[in-house]
Amino acid sequence: MDDTGDGQAVVCRGLEYTFGHGHGHGHGHGRGKGKGRPTRAVDGIDLTVRTGEVFGLLGPNGAGKTTTIRAITTLLPVGAGMVRVFGHDAARRPMQVRRLLGYVPQQLSADSGLTGRENVALFARVFDVPRAERAERVAQALAAVDLTQAAERMAATYSGGMVRRLELAQALVSAPRLLVMDEPTIGLDPIARTGVWERVDAVRRATGMTVLVTTHYMDEADRHCDRIALMDRGRIRALGTPAELKDRVRREDPRQERPTLDDVFRHFAGRDLADATEGDFGDVRRTRRTAGRVG
Ligand SMILES: Nc1ncnc2c1ncn2[C@@H]1O[C@H](COP(=O)(O)OP(=O)(O)OP(=O)(O)O)[C@@H](O)[C@H]1O
Ligand SMILES: [Mg+2]
Repeated sequence: MDDTGDGQAVVCRGLEYTFGHGHGHGHGHGRGKGKGRPTRAVDGIDLTVRTGEVFGLLGPNGAGKTTTIRAITTLLPVGAGMVRVFGHDAARRPMQVRRLLGYVPQQLSADSGLTGRENVALFARVFDVPRAERAERVAQALAAVDLTQAAERMAATYSGGMVRRLELAQALVSAPRLLVMDEPTIGLDPIARTGVWERVDAVRRATGMTVLVTTHYMDEADRHCDRIALMDRGRIRALGTPAELKDRVRREDPRQERPTLDDVFRHFAGRDLADATEGDFGDVRRTRRTAGRVG
């Protein structure tokens, strides 16, 4: 295989992306940026996701997490710098990259007017799952997220947690080597959040799939991520295992005896994650919930 990437699922070097330079318009969320003023959303990022690990990208609203992820998944062009996925250059070989990944976007991607099974079947077609294997692969993906019983129901009747698991099934049906999830558990109750992670972990154990995830939930990152990168204002402020990052804080600030990841963020970003996150966060949650209900 030429696409092993030497044990590296994702490599970003000097990755930059600026909105407002003739591309990237049309999805603005009115976050107070001056119209037409360029926004350096990603400002020179270096990171490596190792094959088989769960890597978490953490940070407040507007940190640049989604923009980074969209560059890695080839949904945005690489503005400057380099992105490789299993050894394939994202700018020069986007199709090779796409074939290797499954993507759960931050915004809703399930069609509420289709059944669960129809939604997953649609992705199986789009992602070129061979026709002869499709029915079986769709059934497997639905089973992996515990939606077999509900598969014939319209997605409009699903709870928020079920919708998110359906979107996970859509991403899994192509048997990706890299699963990219953008806020997979935002707005879900703790039980539904655990439900999403349990399914991801089971698939990971069975297939060795690599996972790249963004989340606002520090406790979740602590529990489920092998390594994390703390992002703020387009840059990575710290990167390591949760234990390593807490150790560093303890060494650099002995007053912190048992730092949490929130403390780690405050230490490296110089401000409170909660403060930085206030505002849009609530809107994102509301948006998802509303969108989940509207049929
Ligand atoms: N389509 C766009 N057009 C213009 N600016 C954008 C666009 N998308 C994002 N931005 C800006 O880029 C910056 C990074 O946004 P991004 O969505 O990557 O952040 P994020 O970390 O994913 O935030 P959130 O936690 O709210 O999802 C923000 O300043 C945002 O306003
Ligand atoms: Mg985002």
